[in-house]
Amino acid sequence: MSRNTRRQFLKQAGLAGAGLAASSIFTVPGFSQAAGRTARASLGLVAPRKDFDRRVFGAFLEHLGRAVYTGVYEPGSKLSDKRGFRTDTLREVKELNVPIMRYPGGNFVSGYNWLDGVGPRKDRPTVLERAWNSLETNQFGTNDFMDWAKAVGTEPLLGFNLGTGTAEMAVAYVEYCNFARGTKWSDLRRAHGYEQPHNVKYWCLGNEMDGPWQIGRLKAREYGWKARDIAQQIRVIDPEIQLIACGSSGPGMPTYLEWDREVLEECYDMVDGLSLHVYYGNADSTGGKTERFLAMNIDMERQIQETAAVCDYVQGLKRSPKKLWLSFDEWNVWYRANSGDHTNGHGKFAPKLLEEVYNLEDALLVGGLLNTLIRRSDRVRVGCLAQIVNVIAPLMTSDKGILRQSTYYPYAMALKYATGRVLDLQMEGETYPVRAAGARGSFARDMDVPFVDAVATYDAAKKQVAVFALNRDLSNERELALSFDDITPSRVLACETITGSDLKAANTFEDPNKVVAQKLDAGTAGGKMTVKLPARSYTVIHLAV
Ligand code: AHR
Repeated sequence: MSRNTRRQFLKQAGLAGAGLAASSIFTVPGFSQAAGRTARASLGLVAPRKDFDRRVFGAFLEHLGRAVYTGVYEPGSKLSDKRGFRTDTLREVKELNVPIMRYPGGNFVSGYNWLDGVGPRKDRPTVLERAWNSLETNQFGTNDFMDWAKAVGTEPLLGFNLGTGTAEMAVAYVEYCNFARGTKWSDLRRAHGYEQPHNVKYWCLGNEMDGPWQIGRLKAREYGWKARDIAQQIRVIDPEIQLIACGSSGPGMPTYLEWDREVLEECYDMVDGLSLHVYYGNADSTGGKTERFLAMNIDMERQIQETAAVCDYVQGLKRSPKKLWLSFDEWNVWYRANSGDHTNGHGKFAPKLLEEVYNLEDALLVGGLLNTLIRRSDRVRVGCLAQIVNVIAPLMTSDKGILRQSTYYPYAMALKYATGRVLDLQMEGETYPVRAAGARGSFARDMDVPFVDAVATYDAAKKQVAVFALNRDLSNERELALSFDDITPSRVLACETITGSDLKAANTFEDPNKVVAQKLDAGTAGGKMTVKLPARSYTVIHLAV
């Protein structure tokens, strides 16, 4: 099996197996069943809570296909500035206000030598990249990414190569980026024109090191041991750094949770966070049912809960005072462009890889997944929509311009309106039954799925509330009756929805506005207010309180 066939592996591991007979119910916290087309949400400030970390709305840029080359960097193009940065991508990402960006991979990082990508461009080697079988010219590297990140206003989240990479080169990378001056690697950075250290705070200790597709894959205890050693050395150079250990590549893995436990048993005290990854699909082979697909954020909810439980179990074993946070640093819909030539660059430069075309139903699930990340932001500190441009992305470039795919809209809504803290929300409403789809992975169990999935945030400084609601009902409008306990909405500031009659509708360069956010009438603001959610929709209601 070639290395990059994540999908093939998960299929063989049983993800696409037959349905289970056993029935179990797992819904979102605070939800109870009730009959009728009106879902009722009562919102309050009951428990004192901190503001959530906006890093939960991050994204991901990998050296993969056309993500970096022609997506972000295209010197010589009339669409690029003098640094070679695509100005349209730069403008879009800046406007989105993405808080953190993971780089340079992904699978790519496990064969990457960061030293090839720094220093004068003319001296950088062209290499054959083995994760995606593509030509890597190294014309864009760490310092270029730092410049770009600064230009778009995002924080870098860098990854170490724990595949072919040594501890020595990982530690040198931190010294190169974060040490001020007077040492071999910090002075090399200065010689490259970067006098000030980059001070990168968040780092991933490798990528999906449990995956048979991963270059330099390790056994859980080997990985945990290696991660521990590297982390220990890094903390000498920069004690402020936040280190993320590789958790399981997803619930479809045969070693799901066991991997996490064994890794953490080796390195718990040396790391700060644990990564989670997941991709969802609505393929015929997994049932092809939109009713089930739109409920997959409940699976994400479960994955978060289960992974947090493993972290807490190891915390107990170690008698550690430290609680790990979670980094959901890869999540998205991805099931069409995920095999064959979609994942094999055939030795070419900037090949078209993973160029998934997103439709309305994908955008609705992305809205649901964002709801889950908001709801679980007490435990998930970092999240990365995988990825940002051209590769399974909300933005696509051509030689003529840039396109916002359908999934751009829910992501933009969360980035724009979700601020402050998460409100306590008790919800009751009608559910529909969904049968299990696979033996492992998404929808392994039967479920009762709420038609309406809602979360709300409250920004105390701005005195604003935002309610995000997914209506999974494919045929009917549903009412969302909001009842506020300790705050009273005085005005509707904005109300936008993503909906449409054709769940398979997608934006194209020729027809870019088929799936966009539209204005919706939210009715009258007040302590009790009712919003009519269109069938098949994801809606944000932004209120002054
Ligand atoms: O995001 C695409 C790929 O999916 C990443 O490179 C890898 O980490 C995951 O399998």
